[in-house]
Amino acid sequence: MSRILVTEGVNGVAMDRLREESDLNVVFEPDLWNNPDALNDAIKDAQAIIVRNQTQVTAELIAAAPNLKIVARAGAGLDNIDTDAVTKAGIVVSFAPSENSLSVAELAIGLFLSLARNIPSADQDIRKGNWNRALFTGGELSGKILGVVGIGRIGTLVAQRAKAFGMTIVAHDNFVDQEGTQYKELDVTFLELDELLGSADFITVHLPLLPSTRHMFTESLFAKMKPSAYLVNTSRGEVVDEIALANALESGVIAGAALDVRSTEPPAVGDAIVNSDKVVLTPHIAAFTHEAQERVVESVCRDAAAVLRGGAAEGFFNFPEPKR
Ligand code: MLT
Repeated sequence: MSRILVTEGVNGVAMDRLREESDLNVVFEPDLWNNPDALNDAIKDAQAIIVRNQTQVTAELIAAAPNLKIVARAGAGLDNIDTDAVTKAGIVVSFAPSENSLSVAELAIGLFLSLARNIPSADQDIRKGNWNRALFTGGELSGKILGVVGIGRIGTLVAQRAKAFGMTIVAHDNFVDQEGTQYKELDVTFLELDELLGSADFITVHLPLLPSTRHMFTESLFAKMKPSAYLVNTSRGEVVDEIALANALESGVIAGAALDVRSTEPPAVGDAIVNSDKVVLTPHIAAFTHEAQERVVESVCRDAAAVLRGGAAEGFFNFPEPKR
């Protein structure tokens, strides 16, 4: 019987179905990601591993996994997976690159509105028995400039929704076809990063975590933003230098930020970001809607079962069938 190791909370109808398959043995250990020694041990007998973003699939882990045929990532980002090591070992990497994009885009819009209208702080204040209407006077999204840094799948979905709010869209992305019809339809103006930072009222980040993007948003970039600007990050926490962000907020270099993702998850209790009243925080929930999770979990469960039964993965990153 093929063994599928699930090392994080990957739940849903498709997972329930997978657990009932008579030819598959699903070992569900949602906290295993947090215990590298036990993980190294458990992977020895596994033919598949299903992870989210917290399990570190390193070259060392792969070396300890002689029977592994597929690493299935329930989500879009592959920064927790050493894809080179997995590929070199002939193991399939499967993921769900678009299944949660819409949910991420919707959360980004929610964060723009939270910042513009002070929704979280007004909520907290009213619970203290206050009724401070004027204190929470906000601004409209309409007529404002949205700067999209990384306008691929998610960035485009955000831009479409922001356009419906009457925002003007500017973008920075050297990897997309800037002549694409989706950008024409939205009247997107592509700018150099410095120009975007200097003109945008809201800056939304949709970048993968790469050596070139780690701590990309640091002091020098914050200095280029308007003092009234808001930064929204729903991509990866490490893209933002959090110490520089805390300083920029504290000293009024920018007006506020909303972060769904942090450099360390969960972050240290009471760090400078958590203590700042200019920040709206959510615990990496952009992809956490019932609809997105159903699609994501369906996709990784389907691929794990297919590969273990000698078939091909549909959502493959490297190749559809194992080479070992
Ligand atoms: C993703 O990469 O798909 C999202 O950030 C959610 C996740 O990491 O699981």
